[in-house]
Amino acid sequence: MGSTADADWAEYYRRVKDRPPRPLVVRAAEISDQPGTAVDLGCGDGTETVFLLERGWAVTAVDLEPAALELTSQRAGESAALSTEAADLAAYQPAQADLILASASLPFVAPEFFTGLWERLRGALSARGLLAVHLFGDQDSWAQGESAVAGMTFHTRSEVEALLTGFEVLQLQEQEFDGPSGRGPKHWHRFDIIARNNRGQN
Ligand SMILES: C[S@@+](CC[C@H](N)C(=O)[O-])C[C@H]1O[C@@H](n2cnc3c(N)ncnc32)[C@H](O)[C@@H]1O
Repeated sequence: MGSTADADWAEYYRRVKDRPPRPLVVRAAEISDQPGTAVDLGCGDGTETVFLLERGWAVTAVDLEPAALELTSQRAGESAALSTEAADLAAYQPAQADLILASASLPFVAPEFFTGLWERLRGALSARGLLAVHLFGDQDSWAQGESAVAGMTFHTRSEVEALLTGFEVLQLQEQEFDGPSGRGPKHWHRFDIIARNNRGQN
C-alpha cells in the first residue's frame, strides 16, 4: 500500500507547471463580486495562486513543501499581494478570508484531522465568503484495494452533502473517470465544490 509520505511533490510540480488554472478557481473567481482575500491551501506549483493574484486578489499560499512555496513566489514575481506559509493543513488555522481554495489538496489530510480542519475552514470564511474545494470520493482507486494510499481522506456523496450543511451550495459536481496520476493510471472519483458561507457576519 502506498502512503502520502512517499509522494514526490517536486516531480509533480515540474510535470504540471505549464497547466492552465483549474476550472474550480476560474469559476470561483467568476462568482465573486470582486477580488478580496484568498487562501490557497496546498498551493503546489502555484498556478491557482498566480491566477488569483493577476485578478487582484491578495493571496496567502500555504503548503507543507518548501519547494511549492519557492516556486509559487518565483512565479508570482515577488508580488506584494502574496504571502506564503509553510504549514501542515492537519493543524492549520487560516486567517479570515473571502475565498478559501483547496484544489486537489484536502484529500491528502488524514481522516483523523479532516473534521477539525473542515470546521476551521468554515469558521475562517468571511460573511458570504466562498469555499472552493476538491474532495475525493470513495470509489477512487486510492481509497481501497491494491492501489490504496494510506493517510488520505475519501467521502461518500452523502458525507459530502453533510459537510455542506449550512452552506449555500453553488456547485457540487461529482465526476468519475480514468486518467493519469503521479502514481500511474487510476480511477478518479472527485467532487468539485463551490459553496458560500451562509451563516451571516463573521
Ligand atoms: C496534488 S497537489 C495540488 C496542487 C495544486 N493545488 C493543484 O491544484 O494542482 C497537492 C498539494 O498539497 C500539498 N499537501 C499535501 N498534504 C499536505 C498537508 N498535510 N499540508 C499542507 N500541504 C499539503 C502537497 O505538498 C501538494 O503541493
